[in-house]
Amino acid sequence: MLDALVQIRDENDPTLGFRGSCRSGFCGDCTMTVHGKGAITCRTKVGKAAKKSEDGVIPIAPIKMAKVVKDLIYDDQHFHWDKIKATQPWVDIDSRISEHDHVMSNERVKELRLAMSCTQCGLCDQGCVVLAIDKTYLGPGALTKAFRTVHDPRDKRYRERLDLLSQKRGVWDCAHCFEATEHCPKGIEPTDRIFDIHDKVIKEDLGVGGAKRHYKSFAASVRAHGWLDEARLAIESEGIGNVKGILKLIPLALKAALRGKRPMPYFLHKKRPGYKRIRSIFEKWEVKR
Ligand code: SF4
Ligand code: FES
Repeated sequence: MLDALVQIRDENDPTLGFRGSCRSGFCGDCTMTVHGKGAITCRTKVGKAAKKSEDGVIPIAPIKMAKVVKDLIYDDQHFHWDKIKATQPWVDIDSRISEHDHVMSNERVKELRLAMSCTQCGLCDQGCVVLAIDKTYLGPGALTKAFRTVHDPRDKRYRERLDLLSQKRGVWDCAHCFEATEHCPKGIEPTDRIFDIHDKVIKEDLGVGGAKRHYKSFAASVRAHGWLDEARLAIESEGIGNVKGILKLIPLALKAALRGKRPMPYFLHKKRPGYKRIRSIFEKWEVKR
């Protein structure tokens, strides 16, 4: 597809604007929307795309969500690079590690290698349901890049980085929809990279209070009862001692009650049949950690 665009520019319209560089799926520069879906155009076959419509016409557009600069060129500075920069994607080598001896085990490199193969094509961001409504969210592309530095054992700013990533617009804005993973052509599974950062933040007890409490309460109630205790989740997300926050929940609780939804918290919340099996999954996971 990219070659076809080059040909059109050479032979028909020298003003046509689009991006593309490596022509081999490596640089992530040629992402566009083809037939309504994000595509790496240098890896997209014209013949195959033409067969998708009855008249053989291939609709091509700039990527969705970002501002268009010209024709098929989008503003990648705002949509992409500013966010990557906000994650501070450079390794700050711990000075205790010798200048000539940057130690990293093969196992750790293996874990990082997949994330390092990210071409920053932006397709995961294209699929992201949160970015679709809030462009300020860092997004799966930038967070996959952030995973690279967070997971590097040579870096001396581990906790500082996790704290940065768990602030507003960071990892806790992820809606767990797995769309980013579905969209990634490299099989990097950006959603799992975000979950990995979640786990690290929880382990280090960092980040924004509400999100952290929500995460912990969710897991604790499923562990205890085999299913979610919604009333407990609402209370604990606000914070047990936060009287003002809890009082704010009353109108919502009344509204839910009027519609027949009256969840009972804590010991009044019934245990699900099979809750012991669910608890054993938690226990196995806790031992593994
Ligand atoms: S994680 Fe995958 S989809 Fe997202 S920018 Fe990297 S290569 Fe593209
Ligand atoms: S031109 Fe580099 S990925 Fe398409």
